[in-house]
Amino acid sequence: MKFDVAIIGSGLAGLSLALHLAQQKKVVIVSKGELLDGASNWAQGGIAAVLDSGDSHDQHISDTLIAGAGLCDEDATRFIVEHGREAIEWLIEQGVPFTRDDQAELGYHLTREGGHSQRRIIHAADATGHAVQVTLEQQIRSHPNITLLEYHCAIDVINSDKLDPQQPARCVGVYVQDIKHDRVITIAADQTVLATGGAGKVYLYTSNPDSATGDGIAMAWRAGCRVGNMEFIQFHPTCLYHPFAKSFLISEALRGEGALLKLPQAAGAAAGTRFMPAHDEREELAPRDIVARAIDFEMKKRGLDHVDLDISHQPREFLEEHFPTIMARCLEFGIDITRQPIPVVPAAHYTCGGVVTDMSGCTDLPGLYAIGETAYTGLHGANRLASNSLLECLVLGRAAAQHIEQQPKPPACTLPAWDESRVTNADEEVVISHNWDELRRFMWNYVSIVRTDKRLQRALHRIHLLKEEIDEYYAHFRITRDLLELRNLVEVASLIVNSALARKESRGLHYSLDYPDTLASTTPTILTPEK
Ligand code: FAD
Ligand code: SIN
Repeated sequence: MKFDVAIIGSGLAGLSLALHLAQQKKVVIVSKGELLDGASNWAQGGIAAVLDSGDSHDQHISDTLIAGAGLCDEDATRFIVEHGREAIEWLIEQGVPFTRDDQAELGYHLTREGGHSQRRIIHAADATGHAVQVTLEQQIRSHPNITLLEYHCAIDVINSDKLDPQQPARCVGVYVQDIKHDRVITIAADQTVLATGGAGKVYLYTSNPDSATGDGIAMAWRAGCRVGNMEFIQFHPTCLYHPFAKSFLISEALRGEGALLKLPQAAGAAAGTRFMPAHDEREELAPRDIVARAIDFEMKKRGLDHVDLDISHQPREFLEEHFPTIMARCLEFGIDITRQPIPVVPAAHYTCGGVVTDMSGCTDLPGLYAIGETAYTGLHGANRLASNSLLECLVLGRAAAQHIEQQPKPPACTLPAWDESRVTNADEEVVISHNWDELRRFMWNYVSIVRTDKRLQRALHRIHLLKEEIDEYYAHFRITRDLLELRNLVEVASLIVNSALARKESRGLHYSLDYPDTLASTTPTILTPEK
């Protein structure tokens, strides 16, 4: 197969890029599940942008830099914030049904989340991502210049200097597993874009969908690209705590609209007491790293398995209008949020680091781009400000499209087919699920909200053992999606732990008991692959 541009991933980053490019280019979107399988479809709170004259770019930038705890790239932040309004107007033109508010300047309701000094989050009730993704999906599926390959899992990008060491290094395409037909296809492309989302599945408890296995980060690393700030994994403070609820987020917009964090029944005489005022003067609206750490602290100190989030003081009509999805989901588990508090725990939510790119999404390898949660642009620093992620997907989707359109056509090259002659069917596939479980469990136990060097070293030791086993398995047995994902997850786990060991301080989302202080000055953690 041959295309002008191959986009790996059908989240908001991939879809917005495809739509910007498709006027001029033949584009393929490769997605390892259905189009709607990514995190974008699950986004709740909304998209942050300066949309009201009472707000300003400087205030949005300042909030982002404060949440990012001194590690945001100020130029990248300015670029993305200043393109926010244009990005939202584009979505409105595409027909996204954002929640209306006739009293508001732009005619749309703006909500608030932790770390924001203003109401600046445009949303579609509490299912913003779904509203955006289904609107774009209709256009993607009917566009004559866009080919959509669902159930196709990218394995690795193809680097021309690996085919012929005389050639300058350049990404010339990608090998992809056609999951339904169990075969590997070769896609040649002038430009390849990684838009594969984050890596939340490296942890046992996560708000992320099953697709979030860090594939793009691992692929770029194997292709020789630098990766930055991987120690900064964001834990969302409030995921639903219920034995049968797999990965359900309780949006921060609830706290934006007045929900309070309280100690639960199990805290005895202290039950019902708010604890955030004792941790931060911004209380429930402090940035996420602070709220997640406060919950972790209270749970460990008091031996609790969850805390409570209470919004029952708001009128039923208000909750029905703003949080219909959360209300309905909680009711499925017997929790009536108009009368009862919601049991919540923190869970891995967002990968702040990723593949190092510039403001056009270019990576270190010519012909290879990375955008969305896979990328590290410098916007999120040591802790992402709520609702800045979808904004980054949109702004970088457009910027990458503009850069790609300006590129001259690279020389044609012939790509070899995937070599399956060396592999046989696996003898014990159960090894893969055991290794998945082991990895996610020790990452949760040793590399989550509070870290020590000893725990990180323990995790690293286990990662080395797993990596050896997985590499051997990959070399000898026919690939499956689970094996590809496990191979990527263990690579990402290694990047997270090595980055965490390199940071000898506590900052934002990286908190170490061995180095509790924040240094006066610091730089991002950039790892470079060995040649
Ligand atoms: P995704 O939307 O995750 O898409 C990645 C795509 O890549 C998927 O289609 C996946 O199948 C595909 N893929 C991955 N690997 C491969 C491979 N090897 N081969 C082929 N395809 C592959 N952010 C906000 O700004 N506002 C919010 O309100 C918000 N709410 C959130 C709520 C939840 C529950 C979660 C989990 C996240 C939320 N976030 C929010 C974060 C935000 O949704 C994500 O960061 C963002 O959607 C990422 O978009 P993306 O396009 O980079 O990746
Ligand atoms: C939420 O709605 O709480 C998620 C927002 C985000 O992750 O930006």
